[in-house]
Parts: sequence; structure tokens; C-alpha cells
Amino acid sequence: MSQLESLRHASLVVADTGDIEAVARWKPQDATTNPSLLLASAEDPRYRHLVDAAIREARGDTAAAMDGLFVQFGREILKHVAGRVSTEVDARLSFDEHGSIARARRLVHLYEKHGSSRERVLIKLAATWEGIRAADKLEREGIHCNMTLLFSFAQAVACAEAGVTLISPFVGRIYDWHRAARKVDDIPIAEDPGVASVTRIYNYYKKHGYKTQVMGASFRKTDQIIALAGCDLLTIAPDLLDKLSKAPGSVERRLSMEGAIRSGGDKIAMDEKTFRWMHNEDPMATDKLAEGIRRFDADARKLERLIISLAAATPAAA
Ligand code: E4P
Repeated sequence: MSQLESLRHASLVVADTGDIEAVARWKPQDATTNPSLLLASAEDPRYRHLVDAAIREARGDTAAAMDGLFVQFGREILKHVAGRVSTEVDARLSFDEHGSIARARRLVHLYEKHGSSRERVLIKLAATWEGIRAADKLEREGIHCNMTLLFSFAQAVACAEAGVTLISPFVGRIYDWHRAARKVDDIPIAEDPGVASVTRIYNYYKKHGYKTQVMGASFRKTDQIIALAGCDLLTIAPDLLDKLSKAPGSVERRLSMEGAIRSGGDKIAMDEKTFRWMHNEDPMATDKLAEGIRRFDADARKLERLIISLAAATPAAA
């Protein structure tokens, strides 16, 4: 048995990619995208027809073409997964609760217009205070949310309290930050701060009976994935899926309800002031959340420029 097959017995495996052929190949339960992954796919000639379709449908409205492109890729991905696809809201709305709600509704409306039910879509929002408030309201209207760029325990507690469907705590970017801060090439898996972060969140959620699903994300090496076997879901990039599929051996469950019940950690009462204070106390999380928003925004703007130039090259579509 490969490590990938074995892992599937402990956690739901999700593909972290905008590459539709990779999704078809790995047959994951769900798939996740983000603006950087969709920029890479939109630049790939194999998927040019999806970009063209989004441009045509938007009739010269660049913002509509961006949403259309995200949904074009999402719908193609849905053909290859039994579960859900995650589609991210524009990072520029990260501090805009009402703007995020409007954009999420627009994306879901587009999916539904093309025949994909909202049950199969997770709207990804940055786990800022405003993003979490938006998710709280969206969940009440049946729009399910996946809270991303999640680095601090405060973010995780606030998301659970808001009753969001799923969170994506990042592993690799936490590991990157600590590696840079300590000026080391690697951190041993037993001390990996990204793995420790997801483990703490998983234990807290299960111990206190929260329904929000935990999906470990942003991996740099297969050891990090294996160390989180048992997490509700794990979203994994194709190169790491490939490595896991080629590695023989069984994967032992590391996270479990029993372990969570035995773990420490009293319930935290969360409000805006507590959230901002706790999050701000964590320099890694404040750096990485801010940088993550900037990076997703930069890639979304590149995507926008690509759409504008392609629309200009095909005047009939503009
Ligand atoms: C998934 O939801 C995240 O967007 C993704 O795992 C981030 O991974 P990265 O840190 O490798 O960009």
C-alpha cells in the first residue's frame, strides 16, 4: 500500500490545485483553489478556452470576467470530484465584511446559474475579523465558507464560534516563517510549528464539540502531511500527492477524538477585542496574514491584467 492510500483511511484527501488534469488524475474528495493557483492555470495554454469563455460571458466587465474565470475553473474541477470545490473571494475585500458578502453571493449565484448547487461550493475568505463576520452571515443563508490564511489560534477560535463550515490552517507558511526567523534550513518534524498549530486547533475543536471541519493546508514536505493523519481533511498539492503515492508504507493516525479529549486547553471566550489582541500577540501570524493578503492580491491583479490583454486581443468579446 502507498502512503497516499493509507492516508485516505485516516483523512479526506483534497487536491490543492487549479490544474484540472491533476484533479482528474488524483480523484480527490474535494479540491481547493486560490488566486495564485488560478493565475498559474489561466496562463496555461491547456486552459485558455476557460479564460476565453469567462471573457465572452462578462462582455467587457473585468470584475465579472474574474468571477467568471474562477467559476469556470471551479465547474470543471467539480466534474472530477465527488465533493466540493473552494473558490476564493478577492483579497482586496479582506477587511470589508459587506463587500465580501456581496462577492460571495455573486460567486454562488454564478455557480447556481450554471447548474452547480451551493452545497458543492466552499467560499474561501481570509480569516480576518471582517472575513469571519462575513462568513458568520453567509453560513446563515446556506453559503458554506472555508476560512483561509489561518495562522493564529485566535483566528481558529473565532471561526469556530462563528460556525463556519471549514477552516484551512496553514502549515508550510508557518514553517517558512520560523525557518527564516531561526536562520535554519529545516525544522525537525517533532518540533514543526505548523504541525503543532494544526494539532492544537484540531484538539481544541474536537474537545469542545465544534462542528467546523479542520483542513490542514500549505505543505512543504510529506512528513508534515503524515504528522497530521487523522485531521478531518488535508489539502495537498499535486507534487506532494505524487510523492505520497510513490512511497510505500502505512500511515499511522496521529490526530483523533480520543487524543483531543485527553488534551488540555480551556474554552476561550472570543470577541473582537480579544481576537485582535490575541492575534496581534503572535508576530508570525500577523506577518503571514498580512503577507498572504498581499500575495493573493498581487496574483489576482496579474490575472486581471491577463484578462484585460486577452479581451483586447479579441474585440468581439469585449
Ligand atoms: C489552500 O487552501 C492554500 O491556499 C494553500 O494550501 C496555500 O499553500 P502555499 O503556502 O503553498 O501557497
